[in-house]
Amino acid sequence: MKVLGIETSCDETGIAVYDTDRGLLAEGLYSQVEVHAEYGGVVPELASRDHIRKTLPLTTQVLAEAGLDKSDLDAIAYTAGPGLMGALMVGTTVARSMAFGLGIPSLGVHHMEGHLLAPMLADEPPSYPFVALLVSGGHSQLVRVDGLGCYTLLGESVDDAAGEAFDKTAKLLDLPYPGGPHVARLAEQGDPGRFDFPRPMVRQPGLDMSFSGLKTHTLLTVRQCREETGLTDQDRADIACAFEQAVVDTLVIKCRRALEQEGLNTLVMAGGVSANRNLRRALADRLGPKGVAVFYPPLSLCTDNGAMIAYAGALRLQAGQRDMGDGEVRPRWPMTELRPPEAA
Ligand code: KG4
Ligand code: ZN
Repeated sequence: MKVLGIETSCDETGIAVYDTDRGLLAEGLYSQVEVHAEYGGVVPELASRDHIRKTLPLTTQVLAEAGLDKSDLDAIAYTAGPGLMGALMVGTTVARSMAFGLGIPSLGVHHMEGHLLAPMLADEPPSYPFVALLVSGGHSQLVRVDGLGCYTLLGESVDDAAGEAFDKTAKLLDLPYPGGPHVARLAEQGDPGRFDFPRPMVRQPGLDMSFSGLKTHTLLTVRQCREETGLTDQDRADIACAFEQAVVDTLVIKCRRALEQEGLNTLVMAGGVSANRNLRRALADRLGPKGVAVFYPPLSLCTDNGAMIAYAGALRLQAGQRDMGDGEVRPRWPMTELRPPEAA
């Protein structure tokens, strides 16, 4: 079954074709970073307009790269939520109209399920059951995964998502949007012994997380440096390093706790922040010796992309699931509402 995947939930237009027999055939990604850079964050209306400009040309390009014609497709999957309302509407409208015109089924996919399943596209995929750490710009969640659509939320951020904390810290350090990769790069030059930032909510029991206090701590440290000597490049690097260490440490502690609680020894990490090399390294170094196998998606599939949507959609479409209803988008859509394909 050849499935076209369309991702337009935020600031990336991602298109891919996944074949259930042959795997990923082609993918294309257009990032809107330059469109939003001067505003320091995503401007929803500009995002929608840019998706309108890019979705069809990128689809044509990806189909050509896959050596396919539109008529070769068996189904179309698209991100139906969560995300920005206008941006989601573009992908949804294009996907559903195209599917209607071609006389093939369509299916709205949950963006975080796409992220969650992206590690399955790696050479050595994990097998169920496992604990998933989903860390993106909008979500920080620990989920028990027993199969496709069998998700139990174990814990989540009570305020900012991990990626959001990276982005806000980047702003405080005068780094461009999106901040995660820039903070990570700057942190490499930092002195890990200079500042010791708090590890939020690690002393309380449970698996919820909080990152907004860490952001405030960063702000206060930046201010203090400014007042004392002016904020030097070394200060910025040291702060980035302390911030990253605190986030990584907190996530490792929560992951270990979740695995112990569930009696599992497989951890899957996904979402934009899973591209963070220190987080990958810390999880492998600190949980590996305890017998935990850690899986993550290929780097290119950590942040938003069309392949994860094509893949998640293909699994559900192959099991017979189809779009019902009127194609309403779901800007807010709790992942716990998802069901296995046969029950959806
Ligand atoms: O999954 P994603 O592409 O979009 C959402 O669904 O939100 O995640 C984007 C987030 C941004 O907050 C970005 O700063 C963060 O992932 N990110 C990183 C890294 N690469 C991307 N955070 C830390 N380190 C990175 N290397
Ligand atoms: Zn995402």
